[in-house]
Amino acid sequence: MSTSLPVTSDEIRETFLRFFEEHGSRRLASASLVPAQHDPSVMLTTAGMHPLKPYFLGADTPPSKRLTSCQKCFRTPDIDNVGVTARHLTCFEMLGNFSIGDYFKREAIAFAWELTVKGFGFDPEKVFVTVFGGDEALGLGVDQESIDFWLEVGVPRERIIELGREDNFWQAGPNGPCGPCTELYLDRGPEYGPATKPGEDESDRFMEFWNLVLMQYEQTTHDDGTSTLKPLPTNNIDTGMGLNRMAMLLQGKETIFETDQFVPLIALGEELSGKTYESGDEAVDRAMRILADHTRGMTFLISDGVVPSNEDRGYVLRRLMRRAVVQGRRIGIEGEFLGRYLDAVVDVMGAAYPELVERREEIRTWVTAEEQGFGRTLTAGLKLLEGLLEAGTVSGADAFLLHDTHGFPVELTVELAEEREIAWTGQDEFDRLMADQRDRSKAGSRRGDHGGASAGSIASLVAPTPTEFTGYAALEQHTTVAGILERDGKTYLKLAESPFYPEGGGQVSDGGTIVLEDGSEAATVVGLVRAGDDQAILVQPADGVGDGRLSADVAFRSGQAVVARVDRKARHATECNHTATHLLHAALRERLGDHVHQAGSAVRPDKLRFDFSHPGKLTPEDVRWVEDRVNERVLAADPVRAITTTLDEARAMGAQALFGEKYGDVVRMVEVGDGEFSRELCGGTHVRNTAEIGVFKITTETSSSANVRRVEAITGPVAVDFLRERDAVLDEISEAAKVPAGQVVERIAKLRDDAKGGAAKAAPVVDESALAAEAIEVGGDAVGGGAPVPVVVARVENVPPKELPAIADRVKGKLGAPGVVVLASPSEDKVALIVAVGPEVVERGVKAGDIVKAAAAVVGGGGGGKPTMAQAGGKDPAKTDDALRAAHDAIVAALGG
Ligand code: ALA
Repeated sequence: MSTSLPVTSDEIRETFLRFFEEHGSRRLASASLVPAQHDPSVMLTTAGMHPLKPYFLGADTPPSKRLTSCQKCFRTPDIDNVGVTARHLTCFEMLGNFSIGDYFKREAIAFAWELTVKGFGFDPEKVFVTVFGGDEALGLGVDQESIDFWLEVGVPRERIIELGREDNFWQAGPNGPCGPCTELYLDRGPEYGPATKPGEDESDRFMEFWNLVLMQYEQTTHDDGTSTLKPLPTNNIDTGMGLNRMAMLLQGKETIFETDQFVPLIALGEELSGKTYESGDEAVDRAMRILADHTRGMTFLISDGVVPSNEDRGYVLRRLMRRAVVQGRRIGIEGEFLGRYLDAVVDVMGAAYPELVERREEIRTWVTAEEQGFGRTLTAGLKLLEGLLEAGTVSGADAFLLHDTHGFPVELTVELAEEREIAWTGQDEFDRLMADQRDRSKAGSRRGDHGGASAGSIASLVAPTPTEFTGYAALEQHTTVAGILERDGKTYLKLAESPFYPEGGGQVSDGGTIVLEDGSEAATVVGLVRAGDDQAILVQPADGVGDGRLSADVAFRSGQAVVARVDRKARHATECNHTATHLLHAALRERLGDHVHQAGSAVRPDKLRFDFSHPGKLTPEDVRWVEDRVNERVLAADPVRAITTTLDEARAMGAQALFGEKYGDVVRMVEVGDGEFSRELCGGTHVRNTAEIGVFKITTETSSSANVRRVEAITGPVAVDFLRERDAVLDEISEAAKVPAGQVVERIAKLRDDAKGGAAKAAPVVDESALAAEAIEVGGDAVGGGAPVPVVVARVENVPPKELPAIADRVKGKLGAPGVVVLASPSEDKVALIVAVGPEVVERGVKAGDIVKAAAAVVGGGGGGKPTMAQAGGKDPAKTDDALRAAHDAIVAALGG
């Protein structure tokens, strides 16, 4: 290291870490922004001590008792302060040194003083320190020890200031490790404010730059608000120094936005907008600061595996990105621009965080997808909001509509309203509408009705002792009946031990039978109710007839011996699909990248469905590659094992686990072969060897929702049947075409050529029911009480334009409610478009002519018609999908606007 004093951010970071390394500390790499272990108190890492919590609490052994790190942190509550103040950031770096039962106050203070004065070169006369002045409620007096140690290193008593609990007592929450702190401040001179010592006023004269937490107690907060402190097993040190604030002090800048990490980002804002920073327009400065901070946050969050969504961290990310896009627009930045910021952030931060460089393109994929997605509705949304703001009021229902139809995070709506000094009073209404929507979607997906009782209460009502699940090893179980419950005409049974797998983790429930000791089948298992690890079984008489009640002669009684028998065939088919799902997941990650995470899964005997995060459609080559890769693992006949281990261990071995899922400390991990290819935390049942899967075939690849793709696949005999059916169809074609199968394609091409210009054309084959079933619902209008409208937007291949009206009409008739159908039929050099709208939907403002025009414009054509039916043609079939998207957006806008 050079002997000159540190100035740049990189030099500051290195000076700090090197100093503590030289004093016996182990240097730790920054942990992820996504906490490794589920922590209900935080969604993202907020301080350097956060990843080290298990060490402080004695739950885990640290690699060394002295540690130092530079941790990337994210503070969600600060989102709204960014840009307004000179020093708030959401995403920043925190330098820290930590002692886990090793050095305490004396050394921590001596280290801090030496580094401040010698390492960073601060003038000792200008450094003030604060110490904890005591607190009656906590039952603690002034921290005299710290005062003594500061005196010991040479700080005069008048520069040691006592402050109260609000300033100088640190806790990460109401419960947990905590302690008094002592903080270092730099006096920047009287020109910054009238204060004569830290804590006197809010001015910037005394700026805090280092917080030393003297962690001594474990706090328990009681219901009445009082708290008890008890000494920790060991005394610890946790310190935090904001790297960006240090850069501001050492670089002599007024705000962090003028420091080296931010200069290129502000300059980019100037370049893109053509405006100048700090030229007197506060709104422009604020926007450029928000852009600089938020795009850093975006880049770091995505590099740690967060993707935009409407939940938890994904929502924080989405808010950042959408806020950045809106701010960009306001200062006149046109087109897509977040990618430019991404590059600037990676250029500045990539040396210290190589993961940014490695994942640059992966991050770009997400950034582009989100920016384009939001961009499509932004203009319409802003127009709507602008109208409301001009009228002077924004209600909860308005905010809900903006959120639901235009993707405006409610916080953004509120912020834009408040900027215009329009009071926001709609939060309760907004929350209620959101809750209603959640209930609606829950009701839509609820399975199995248990007469209003929760699964948990059903299971314990049948019998209080939990059933032991034996189905990992056994498919037939000799056991006893533990309880019976008749409810709402249904019979529930509880067994002491059960081999039946109750639906969970995507895998469906087992079917099977309950057999009496004499060998007669007494009941069929028609459903299972899962309550955590416990379960109850819904049964019907074995012959499957009657009113669903068990007849008296097969009535069960508690304590009766029975044999529980799982339907082997269905179970095995399900297991093939479950193991295949793990292989599919691994193959997708290998092919597409580590951003692929499971977003949903359904494992059934007849097929598997797997939803995963990925921004774009898979190419036919991707699908084929993935299929080949899975089949390769099937042919390798790898053993499949389930191992019980700890969560830490599983993570260390790279096991896939769902984000946000709450796993206990002991987990079940399913591993294929040596585990290199696939390891996942999973409670489901699997084949013993991948060879049992036989063959794996992907049947469809579609979109499930924004940024989520859906793959459906089949295995084993089902796949063989599927291939056989295809084969039979090919045989038929080859017979009809009177050529061997290998020449069929050629023959058909010739037939088509022959027919061209002639009259005879093959009737188009359009599966109208399938099209209708794919309808999505848009425009549920909470304001006017209008119901959501089913909309089908699809391409149909090779359908002559004159057939389109009849097809569109029939598909519209198959929708469950009045709706809209948009079809596009591309051919070599043309594309035909049709829009059919139900009269009830026309009344809500959706006119077929308008919609078809919006779509035709994209493919370079025009057209028109009646409000209920309109047709158009275009010249650019390559843009068919874009035209359909434009039609969709026009429908959404018409319903929402
Ligand atoms: N954990 C302490 C802080 O965040 C050092 O300030």
